[in-house]
Amino acid sequence: MSKSMKWTGNTLEILDQTKLPLVKDYVICKDYRDVRDAIQGMKVRGAPAIGVSAAYGMVLAAYECKDKVDTRDEFLKCLDNAACYLISARPTAVNLEWAVRRMMDKAREIEDFAKIPSTLAELAEEIEQEDVDTCMKIGEHGAKLLPSRATVLTHCNAGALATAGYGTALGVVRAAIEEGKEIQVFAGETRPFLQGARLTAFELMEDNIPVTLITDNMAAYVMSQGLIDCVIVGADRIAANGDVANKIGTYGLAVLASEHDIPFYVAAPLSTFDFSIQSGKEIVIEERDEDEVATIFGQRIAPEGVRIINPAFDVTPHSYITAIITDCGVIHSPSTERLKGIAPV
Ligand code: MRU
Repeated sequence: MSKSMKWTGNTLEILDQTKLPLVKDYVICKDYRDVRDAIQGMKVRGAPAIGVSAAYGMVLAAYECKDKVDTRDEFLKCLDNAACYLISARPTAVNLEWAVRRMMDKAREIEDFAKIPSTLAELAEEIEQEDVDTCMKIGEHGAKLLPSRATVLTHCNAGALATAGYGTALGVVRAAIEEGKEIQVFAGETRPFLQGARLTAFELMEDNIPVTLITDNMAAYVMSQGLIDCVIVGADRIAANGDVANKIGTYGLAVLASEHDIPFYVAAPLSTFDFSIQSGKEIVIEERDEDEVATIFGQRIAPEGVRIINPAFDVTPHSYITAIITDCGVIHSPSTERLKGIAPV
């Protein structure tokens, strides 16, 4: 299984997902600005992987701030500026903010500011390991929902590449296979960035997990032909009522799944829940550059001057979601009432 990132002690090596599957190349991030560029440029992507890499970005920022300032107050100000800069890279995935705030809170707890960088390095490694453990727990809970033979339709990439390892939606697939179940995956290509075609197909093939690639507009057809037993996707932010923001196209799949009586599952860690917002209406949807729609691999495919929109995510209302699979268990028919049990007190 390819690792989305490697911490070397003084740099963060990020597997450049814009080049996959053709080239397996790591970009070396020497400071937090490099990490922010890698997140914004989607060299690292997927909510949990963005969070973990930003945590390492904070470590790099802490070492830089320590060399620049003389007092603890100045240090915390410098680190806070880096935190805001990292958070501004992408607005929708809550894990980014979650990880950076956790690092900032830890920094504030420490009196001797010279000790902050090494303490943050330990915490970032902890967050990375926690993410892998969390995915494995999601896998364990989710695998129980799958029959002994099943075809799973997934969207985008919610696998090892989108996390520190193992994956959320693909973690469920991996765990079910480890339990001896016969699972195959249909991967939607996921225009415009093609995470399904480039990343999900690549990572599943690396692990010898049977995968069939379809274009996004084939989803209704394969469902109507009885080829799909369930849909499993990841999430970027989940509101208190269970509405889920995920890669653009997820909402359409949920509506189609409902029409065809196919269970629609969302797999996500607790760090993807945002209990500060009541519903998906409050989720900020990232609007990305129109070139991602107008071009494929640098080749223009649309007429010059055509009007384009490029929302990177959509929101699936909770009423379409059969269950949310978390590291703490499965929440069936999610709603404000049902999610109260996992909300922090
Ligand atoms: O724009 P991306 O590639 O970062 O979008 C990723 C997704 O939408 C994933 O489904 C989500 O982050 C969950 S990843 C475990």
